[in-house]
Amino acid sequence: MTDVADRATAGFRQEFGGPPAGHWAAPGRVNLIGEHTDYNDGFVLPFALPLRTVAAADRQEGARWTVWSELSGETISFGADEVDEPGRVTGWGAYVAGVVWALRDAGHDVPGARLAIASDVPLGAGLSSSAALEAAVLTALVDLGGLDLPAERQPRLAQRAENRYVGAPTGIMDQSASIRCRDGHALFLDCRSEGVEHIPFDLRAAGLAMLVVDSHAPHRHADGEYAARRKSCEAGAERLGVPALRDVTVDQLDAALARLDDPETRRRVRHVVTEDQRVLDTVALLRAGRVREIGPLLTASHVSMRDDFEITVPEIDTAVETALAAGALGARMTGGGFGGCVLALVEADAADSVAGAVTAAYAERGFRAPGHVTVLPAAGAARLD
Ligand code: GLA
Repeated sequence: MTDVADRATAGFRQEFGGPPAGHWAAPGRVNLIGEHTDYNDGFVLPFALPLRTVAAADRQEGARWTVWSELSGETISFGADEVDEPGRVTGWGAYVAGVVWALRDAGHDVPGARLAIASDVPLGAGLSSSAALEAAVLTALVDLGGLDLPAERQPRLAQRAENRYVGAPTGIMDQSASIRCRDGHALFLDCRSEGVEHIPFDLRAAGLAMLVVDSHAPHRHADGEYAARRKSCEAGAERLGVPALRDVTVDQLDAALARLDDPETRRRVRHVVTEDQRVLDTVALLRAGRVREIGPLLTASHVSMRDDFEITVPEIDTAVETALAAGALGARMTGGGFGGCVLALVEADAADSVAGAVTAAYAERGFRAPGHVTVLPAAGAARLD
């Protein structure tokens, strides 16, 4: 049995001795462009991957949640007491308990449940396996309990689970992508209003492919560095007297930078302000059907992350440089940084040769061999049956 839903069902039957009431699937994501803009109230453009996390689930009596995970092979169980005290449930269970906590904290009558989780989203690759887990559990509990929580309000709640229960100060992009994306489209999200536009992103029709290279670089201090970047951005906004860096436009950038005396803050601000504009420019090109022209914007985003936001690592820069030298139309790191994956926009028939060039460059530099896959935009979270 290899299909992820079948594996979740098998786990459910084995642990709980019967069939689940249903299956809820939520995808991982890549971000096409718009990095570290979400917590600055700015713009992002992620799309969902065809890799999903599935929760096979059923109700159970009382305020108790029992969860089996294929990955750890364990079953954990917690009640309202543990849920109501953020931090009590740890490890992967914290993402599940966090969702229950966030729902209860928002006043929902969350049903007790048994869940079996299986996933095709790799962990630690920057493809939002944690958001996929949160979204699979959240949509299962919302449906099982008949809770009044429309999809557009779910990402904020899942983000709260991650910020407050798990303790990671992430923005709203990953949960929004996992819950709100549509098949064949990228999700243009305004992280301030939470308004979305589904932008057609038909790579096949354009004769293109999106290559995802997993750098396999070890995450180096990613959590602390993420929090530090967020702090710098908030400090920059405060010094500029704006609610968030989203409120500075590229036309105002030079004047804004002149008001900041700390060179590091200046670089961070420049990344965010220019990155927001690159998202808008990318969206404009995609709306006009000019898909192959987004390449230089992707590459400019990478350069900005490397030089101004300083969140890339040698394995990542090598993958981008090599992909470009091998003919990619554009390439950039995707996700929070310090490892993870690189996206390369390539001619459909060049995906293998570009991937081969990156693999050869890694071998030459003594890096661990990278992984690679080509992807098309897939659907967001949904009940499967
Ligand atoms: C991580 C976070 C997101 C976002 C990205 C960077 O994926 O979870 O909220 O900030 O990094 O764009």
